[in-house]
Amino acid sequence: MAEPQAIHLSDYRPPAYRVEKTELTFDLDPSTTRVRTRLHLQRHPEYGEDAALTLHGHGLTTERVAIDGQALLESEYRIEDDQLVIDRVPAEFVLDTEVVIDPANNTALEGLYVSGPMFCTQCEPEGFRRITWYPDRPDVMSVFTTTVIGDRQRQPVLLSNGNPIERGELPNDRHFVTWEDPHPKPSYLFALVAGSLECVRDSFTTMSGREVALELWVEAPNLEKTDWAMASLKRAMTWDEEAYGREYDLDLFMIVAVDDFNMGAMENKGLNIFNSAAVLANPQTTTDAAFQRIEGIVAHEYFHNWSGNRVTCRDWFQLALKEGFTVFRDQSFSSDINSAPVKRIEDAALLRTLQFAEDAGPTAHPVRPDHFIEISNFYTLTIYEKGAEIVRMLSNLLGEETFRRGSDLYFERFDGQAVRVEDFVDVMAEVSGEDLTQFMRWYAQAGTPQLTARSDYNAEQRQLTLTIRQQTPPTPGQEDKQALHVPVRMGLLGADGEPIKLVINGESNGTDTVLHLREAEQRWVFDDVDEGAVPSLLRGFSAPVRLDYPWSRDELSHLMRFDEDGFNRWDATQRLALIAIEEMMVAHQRGELMALDARLIEAFRHLLREPTDDKAVLAEMLRLPSEAWIAEQQTRVDIDAIHGARRAAIEQLADNLFAEFESVYHANQQTDAYAPTPDQIASRSLRNVALSYLVANGEPEALNMARAQYEADHNMTDVRAALTLLAHSDRADLGDPAIRAFGERWAHDSLVMDQWFATQVTRPQADALERVRFLMKHPAFSIKNPNRVRALIGAFTQQNRVNFHRLDGQGYQLLADVVIELNRLNPEIAARMIVPLTRYHRLDEQRQKLMRGELERIRKEELSRNVYEVVEKALA
Ligand code: BES
Ligand code: ZN
Repeated sequence: MAEPQAIHLSDYRPPAYRVEKTELTFDLDPSTTRVRTRLHLQRHPEYGEDAALTLHGHGLTTERVAIDGQALLESEYRIEDDQLVIDRVPAEFVLDTEVVIDPANNTALEGLYVSGPMFCTQCEPEGFRRITWYPDRPDVMSVFTTTVIGDRQRQPVLLSNGNPIERGELPNDRHFVTWEDPHPKPSYLFALVAGSLECVRDSFTTMSGREVALELWVEAPNLEKTDWAMASLKRAMTWDEEAYGREYDLDLFMIVAVDDFNMGAMENKGLNIFNSAAVLANPQTTTDAAFQRIEGIVAHEYFHNWSGNRVTCRDWFQLALKEGFTVFRDQSFSSDINSAPVKRIEDAALLRTLQFAEDAGPTAHPVRPDHFIEISNFYTLTIYEKGAEIVRMLSNLLGEETFRRGSDLYFERFDGQAVRVEDFVDVMAEVSGEDLTQFMRWYAQAGTPQLTARSDYNAEQRQLTLTIRQQTPPTPGQEDKQALHVPVRMGLLGADGEPIKLVINGESNGTDTVLHLREAEQRWVFDDVDEGAVPSLLRGFSAPVRLDYPWSRDELSHLMRFDEDGFNRWDATQRLALIAIEEMMVAHQRGELMALDARLIEAFRHLLREPTDDKAVLAEMLRLPSEAWIAEQQTRVDIDAIHGARRAAIEQLADNLFAEFESVYHANQQTDAYAPTPDQIASRSLRNVALSYLVANGEPEALNMARAQYEADHNMTDVRAALTLLAHSDRADLGDPAIRAFGERWAHDSLVMDQWFATQVTRPQADALERVRFLMKHPAFSIKNPNRVRALIGAFTQQNRVNFHRLDGQGYQLLADVVIELNRLNPEIAARMIVPLTRYHRLDEQRQKLMRGELERIRKEELSRNVYEVVEKALA
């Protein structure tokens, strides 16, 4: 097998031929679907008549190729390396092709495939080439007409993009529907769905008064889980009109739920396809977290209609142009309709644990990469989450109003075009008059910038000097980094807790300001500052950076109580807890008694007795830093010490504050009927955090409270929280019956069974790995379904660090076995699942050796491009 080659951004050339119009006919059959394609092609003026026509295709059985109605001989074209090349073609012509594909055996779930009783497609980024010969690149935009022919019984519903323009009956109990999408689009936005589906209908009146029909298509048993997604969709449509002035542009908007899906959801024009886990919800089966996630994903895909579809990407190196912007848009939407500070805490926590880890590992890459082997590997936290942070920084830098003028101009100027990151940033520079040259480095440089801040107080002059240095560590292929433009939002708190007026160089700035760090080191002098002022830095997580500042524990307690910025109150709590846990880790390593810092206990006591924050934020403050975030702080990661110390900290908080947690638990009892409203979610979140501490205390009384909550069976949020506590306790007499009962009750619902799998394999006890092996044989598990794989294997390898990193190497071996199997079945999922095995660089020698050994074993296989790229980087 030839080594897969990298593709470089610098090699970009515009397409030689444009597709004016695409006409497709699908004759559906599970194992032999026939696709007839008619392309109206036109040579790009920059190219001459010697420009060959090159089309992409993968796994196609080609039955006919014709130009202007004339069938070509096999000698008149070439098929090699997934390309069909015709050396000489007219300047303008019609190309007909006919191919046969096999959806039933498409386990990669890219292109046209079968999921349960239905046919569906996934074309982003390069799935369309598995359907037909085509210039499968996002800068080729065409209008599409699609005829779908299916079985009247088995596929009564035949869907594609746009509007249905014709339907009719055919011989042999077949029928067809023809769809027309008037908006030019790249092939990655093509979609087709066929099967026996039920529909929930609603409608939306746009701001200009147009009626849009909304349709949500699901398999019949899921009809009871559609309300939330439909309501979310309407909220998203309203929000995009209000916040961005964006109106929907077709008469019909459809969402379809499918069970086998590699990602969460896909923004196909007029026909969004969703992983059923990302759209179906009801109170009995779905947790609060899942309700909120669904709301966010429905909004995200809908928002792509403008940020992605009307204005798309020139090439896949520009992926963050649509994903970063759209994630920022969905974050703003969720923040507007739920608890804004909690949304910010969640997004920042995700970024700084998982994206920072990506930045620190072998697959680190810039938000706009300059080369890749397999683009599917680049749907990463860096592209999505860091990409969104860059847009957020722009919005903060320019101010909301100017940013909105910029986005209006962007959508107007580039409507119907395929553009680059520069086009977006240039528009923002144009409307604001800002020089964003240095800012562009955020897109080009990989790695997490490290800020080191120090303050120096001069009592005589009553001046505080703040010095901030920045440095971005080297990442693979990028040794030297330049200084970035980093917005640092900050304030100063007086010793009395009051905010201090910020006077910088004689200029007054209120009590909250943004410092623009542009140099490797910069200094700011604050006048009129009394002794004992405490800096609050990087408020609202104003830039995706690490920040080091030598806050004392007293100063952190002070920030926890008095900072006006909710995010920094939370961050101060995390920092205070981290110091205490790190101290206990040292004790753990020395085999000494681990005693929790009394100041943390007192700080928590204060939080519980005199809560100043809303419940949602309070619940977040009470959660100790995750094992992943603690690990992020260590130069050498000690898996067992992190787990042991964190666990001991929780137990000691529970012992010391049992009564406080108990009263919070009782005070937050819900009496209203379940609804995923921000208020109710906040109460449940706080109550369940309290319950987790109570159970950690180990009193039988607390476990009985968990059991009672489980048995009360009010809603999945409370049931799942209680079930997790029971199943993760040492009390098998309580955990096992609950697990058994839950598994029996929900055997018919695969999405609930996924929660059941994940709950069991995230147990901290030593038998977790054996449970994974056992559950892989469970009838509800299938290695071919990505949701099952994520629920069982993903949850174990990503959320059960002590057991995945077992010193006997069995966790690594298990993951390698799964990756080897998935490499053949579904390379995209294989390359995602392998990631925990590549994060060995800061572990102990023994684990490093074991992990590398498993990677070497995988390397001996015949690898997909996806897995090949990740393994090569990991072993480099
Ligand atoms: N365009 C993506 C879906 C996608 C990603 C398709 C990668 C093919 C390959 C979609 O807009 C998306 O980003 N979905 C996210 C959810 C979103 C809320 C961040 C997903 O699927 O996880
Ligand atoms: Zn997206």
